Amino acid sequence: MKLLAPSILSADFWDLKTQIEAVIRGGADLIHFDVMDGHFVPNITVGPYVLECIKRRITIPVDAHLMIENADKYIPEFISAGADWISVHIENNYHIHRTIELIKKKGAKAGVVINPGTALDMLKEIVHYVDYVLLMSVNPGFGGQKFIERSVHRLRELVNLRDITGTDFFIEIDGGIKEDNIGEVVRAGADVVVVGSGIFLAEDIENQTRKLKNIILSSTAV
Ligand code: DX5
Ligand code: ZN
Repeated sequence: MKLLAPSILSADFWDLKTQIEAVIRGGADLIHFDVMDGHFVPNITVGPYVLECIKRRITIPVDAHLMIENADKYIPEFISAGADWISVHIENNYHIHRTIELIKKKGAKAGVVINPGTALDMLKEIVHYVDYVLLMSVNPGFGGQKFIERSVHRLRELVNLRDITGTDFFIEIDGGIKEDNIGEVVRAGADVVVVGSGIFLAEDIENQTRKLKNIILSSTAV
């Protein structure tokens, strides 16, 4: 499984419908939906109502990345709105096992997210419970930031963690992925690749999606 997840954070919200339709025609496997609350991260984005409006019209899954405080309080609402995958950060969800179990119990795929400055050792226990790990390759909060190179090494370490723990979580990577490094992250072990500005700021969104999807598919083959 190698999937492309365009992040609508960099979309033009005036034209959201057209732009989401374009990434779907270009081969997007899921829509990455970044939720920010102005507390955990310094930016504010969208909530369950926007997710619901999108989900009503599309058939591919929506992957909600929650960068918020009190995630437990909002998870049921995001799932009722139609989120198929939900991920929460290891850094601010103190009872991470309970939160992950809540997501699964409500019927969504559950992921744990880890920031660039957090040791991967923090994941050792929770990987036994999650469907996926989302590795941040920028500090969360904004689209269009530069890829942190060490993330490639961290991807390989995550693959190793999966092997030694005998678990089967899939690995998603998010932040600073563009045409020039998407092949590298797939070869290093990413199963799901999030791309925001690298798709939505392109002149032709549909073709750009198709191009990145083809790189993912050909990188897998190597
Ligand atoms: C950052 C978000 C990302 C962001 C990626 O906090 O989690 O999903 O949209 O955008 P690019 O691909 O532009 O780094
Ligand atoms: Zn994200």
